[in-house]
Amino acid sequence: MKLVIFGAGGFIGSNLVDHLIADRTHTVVGMDIADDKLEGIEGPNFTFVKGDVRKSDRLVEELVRDSDVVVDLVAYANPSIYVDTPLDVFELNFLQNLKIVDLCVAHGKRLFQYSTSEVYGKPAGDAYVEDASDLILGPISKQRWIYACSKQLLERIIHAHGLRGDLVHTIVRPFNFVGPRFDYLVPAGATGGPRVFAHFMSALLTGGPMYLVDGGEQHRAFTHIQDCNEAFTILLESPEAKNEIFNIGNPETDISIFDLAALMKDIYRELTGKEADNELRVISGEEFYGSGYEDMDRVAPDISKLSALGWEPKRDLRTTFRDAIAFHLDPKVRASISG
Ligand code: UGA
Repeated sequence: MKLVIFGAGGFIGSNLVDHLIADRTHTVVGMDIADDKLEGIEGPNFTFVKGDVRKSDRLVEELVRDSDVVVDLVAYANPSIYVDTPLDVFELNFLQNLKIVDLCVAHGKRLFQYSTSEVYGKPAGDAYVEDASDLILGPISKQRWIYACSKQLLERIIHAHGLRGDLVHTIVRPFNFVGPRFDYLVPAGATGGPRVFAHFMSALLTGGPMYLVDGGEQHRAFTHIQDCNEAFTILLESPEAKNEIFNIGNPETDISIFDLAALMKDIYRELTGKEADNELRVISGEEFYGSGYEDMDRVAPDISKLSALGWEPKRDLRTTFRDAIAFHLDPKVRASISG
């Protein structure tokens, strides 16, 4: 099959390209504004096209037309951006993605849409089930939710096309994927910016504080990026995945952010032989991200739907963070992804 991946240069995209081109079954074309995370990922079955989907309508259409499967990963995914520039999030994560949906409809292409676990919103309690859980978002004054709202509406439009019979699609909802090439590093003491792994990793490298937003009592369940790549292959090959939504997550890795800071310090000591004596500094969500931030207490996946297709996450919490930290301890890697 010939796949085109929009957003191939991001964290999920670069790891997916690396995974897909390893066996020569598929041909992959990747498009993105930057290719630094793709450094060293090469093969005769991979072509990179540099460009911004927002400014390249004709090129995007050609790439869709020339492919069998379209994988759409184009999105802002850092909460600090939802708070700072909510309209940019709507324009990229909804309007631009909608154009790709429309092109898939027009050219009869199968679409893999990467959505988000954040569409489930605020309820904390039972694990989220794709076709049963309610999607509950906070007030408009908390602009963080423009991200989940944009992604949710996009999912609803894709689903409606499936019902009308003019689009074959699969929607995936990632639950806190972690691994090599994650986000970007920040200077000591920086707030906002990337997601929690990148902040804690930066703190370990600079000796700066590890911020615990609202005390770090929130929980997340993290998923090794290689487990996610394997899930993609199964979804690509399973007829049952057509016109369905799947959580990709690991329910066994649920941890509070407070405990995550301790875990990352411990793994850092194990890998480097150096003690990590970073201060754990409690900060409010408003101070860390700005006003308009609101959080989810727990984000827990139910994965029975994907497990029924033969997938299960194989890497435990420690392995997941060990692999991600080890990657970022390589100075050459660090230099290439900073900034
Ligand atoms: C983000 C995106 O908004 C989701 O769409 C996406 O699915 C998810 O990442 C993901 O990686 O899958 P979130 O889980 O809130 O959602 O991501 P983080 O920014 O990593 O925050 C996780 C928790 O850590 C939050 O409670 C946040 O307040 C906290 N945090 C973050 C800290 O305590 N300290 C930090 O330095 C950074």
